[in-house]
Amino acid sequence: MNPIKTLGQFIIEKQADHPYAKGELSRLLRDIGIAAKIVNREVNKAGLVDILGQAGSTNIQGETQQKLDIYANEQFIAALKNGGECCIVASEENEEIVMLDTDVSLDAKYIVAIDPLDGSSNIDVNVSVGTIFSIYRRQSTEGRATLDDVLQKGVNQVAAGYIIYGTSTMLVYTTGRGVNGFTLDPSIGEFCLSHPEMQFPKTGHVYSINEGNYVHFPQGVKSYIKYCQVEDPATNRPYSSRYVGSMIADLHRSMIKGGIFIYPVTAAAPGGKLRLVYECNPMSFIVEQAGGKATNGYKKRILELDVNSLHQRTPIFMGSEEMVLKAEEFMAQSEDLPNISLVG
Ligand code: AHG
Ligand code: MN
Ligand code: MN
Repeated sequence: MNPIKTLGQFIIEKQADHPYAKGELSRLLRDIGIAAKIVNREVNKAGLVDILGQAGSTNIQGETQQKLDIYANEQFIAALKNGGECCIVASEENEEIVMLDTDVSLDAKYIVAIDPLDGSSNIDVNVSVGTIFSIYRRQSTEGRATLDDVLQKGVNQVAAGYIIYGTSTMLVYTTGRGVNGFTLDPSIGEFCLSHPEMQFPKTGHVYSINEGNYVHFPQGVKSYIKYCQVEDPATNRPYSSRYVGSMIADLHRSMIKGGIFIYPVTAAAPGGKLRLVYECNPMSFIVEQAGGKATNGYKKRILELDVNSLHQRTPIFMGSEEMVLKAEEFMAQSEDLPNISLVG
């Protein structure tokens, strides 16, 4: 029988790969793991306690906040504050950056961006939801860290990951040396290494997009969807369509089985819907580290996009490399290019 390796053991083992590391990043990842277990506990008993449903408030993006959105946000911020390795949290649920001002946090060198609960519309119906996190090193060297420390390009991330509260609960993360997945064993309360060195298959036969928006898609996306639906045994087409509505779940499936996830520009969301800082950049870091591809559909790596504001949005095409390249081909052939800022 293989001995189990817990997330804590794995993190310490990896820290030894970096002789000069002082352990701060390891402790930060540990803090995130603790918050994940607390949120997992609440998600698991969501039907039994008064935590389902709307909270009666909206976030900065005008989206209705669910009680679990708020709960998860509070838990992650509290864990990061108590841990003392993070000076600023940027969250989907907070309009402004959250400055952590305990004595130790003030001098901490890491910044964390989070989507505390991804897939909120699935909470009430017992479908997988998740948490996304992204970690940057503070760039400024004097005074307190500021918003500018948060607005770094995705290529600067030192770590990123997600937790998926699904049929089992998993934590998947990268520090830029591949992607590893850990499954929570509830009997011992530990995340245990279950998916070492995760890799996207080079291609797949599942596409994932909200087809309800079809009439509002750019012509290139419409043509790619039609390509997916055409009969061609040599390439395993027609492909299957799967769309959970929780990006983490759709992406996690694509990473294991192969596939593409697309959230393009639409008439309703001309800049795309998903947020760059705490959704697209961390997922793209993981995708690239697992051998996949993540772009805005216009041949620009998500990780290289300029970051101008905290809640900035972008279209995203990510998943198995060959599928993303094919979708981009269709995008390049169509003439309805959006606002130039997406392309540049
Ligand atoms: P969040 O719950 O954090 O607001 O994110 C939901 C996101 C993403 O997870 C999902 O893929 C997408 O929004 C679903 O949007 P549509 O309902 O427009 O397809
Ligand atoms: Mn989200
Ligand atoms: Mn969210």
